[in-house]
Amino acid sequence: MRASTAAALLVGLLSSLVFAVTTAETVLTPGGYRSKANVHEIPVGGSLAHVGDMIHVLAANGTVLKVVHRRNTAKREPAVLPLKTGWIAYASWLNYDSSPIASFTTTWEVPAVPTENHGQTVFLFNSIEPTSGPVAILQPVLQYGPSAAGGGSFWAVASWYISSSDQFHTTPVRTSAGTTLNGVITLTGTSSDSSLCNYTTQFIGISETFLYISGVSQLRWATETLEAYGVTSINDYPASSTVFSGINLKLADGATPIVSWSTQSDATDGLITTVNTDGATDAEITIEY
Ligand SMILES: *[C@@H]1O[C@H](CO)[C@@H](O)[C@H](O)[C@H]1NC(C)=O
Ligand SMILES: *[C@@H]1O[C@H](CO)[C@@H](O)[C@H](O)[C@H]1NC(C)=O
Repeated sequence: MRASTAAALLVGLLSSLVFAVTTAETVLTPGGYRSKANVHEIPVGGSLAHVGDMIHVLAANGTVLKVVHRRNTAKREPAVLPLKTGWIAYASWLNYDSSPIASFTTTWEVPAVPTENHGQTVFLFNSIEPTSGPVAILQPVLQYGPSAAGGGSFWAVASWYISSSDQFHTTPVRTSAGTTLNGVITLTGTSSDSSLCNYTTQFIGISETFLYISGVSQLRWATETLEAYGVTSINDYPASSTVFSGINLKLADGATPIVSWSTQSDATDGLITTVNTDGATDAEITIEY
């Protein structure tokens, strides 16, 4: 065997090993593909607390179950920027007011499951994030297909908190087509300068999705989003469209903000985001597949 052939074989062998190791360790979250070791399940009734540069996972009785050190993973994993993940079509609004967003509600109906299954994952959610700095996403998520939290060829709901290094989720609860979901994110308290906030998120009436998190940087960017991975055909999406309605935003000082939603579509693939009713009171946004 010529040395160059042996070298090529060795390179091939090494790269397939690297590939195997990488794929074994990587799992899908609404924050993109992440290391499996950095995905943490929150038990029912449990909560999260930012304490310095750590995130504590607490049991329902307040016992600290796990301490996760927030690592600077900038070199190893990209920050959770929408365009670097599978955000396909979405609407968003950024709160520039000095008063934080106090509540953000959205209603939508669980669509029929996609007519084709190629192992794709579809996430539909409302979410809230900071504008910059340490990345964070708090979101009640409807999921079809597999993710780090579980799932399969059915719809399920869970709440997620995504930080730049770690991802936390409640245990997914199966749901079915036609169910009306009310995804709610609520501010429950702020430090005196509003820099650190406590929030809850949940699907109303599905108590397993309730998630409380304390000590987070203020979350200012509200979105209505379709995120997907592994889609190979338009039939991998649900048929027709998803209408996000009952979109209501309130600020902590009691005011209703003046909201104009920006949209992002994927026209090439025929995924269109439309604002039917703009504003912060009973707004309505459609994502058409
Ligand atoms: C609190 O909950 C944890 C986890 O369920 C359990 O292991 C622990 O014994 C409980 N502690 C108390 C004081 O009830
Ligand atoms: C925020 O949450 C922490 C932990 O639950 C709590 O000690 C603190 O009082 C909360 N702050 C406010 C302003 O609600």
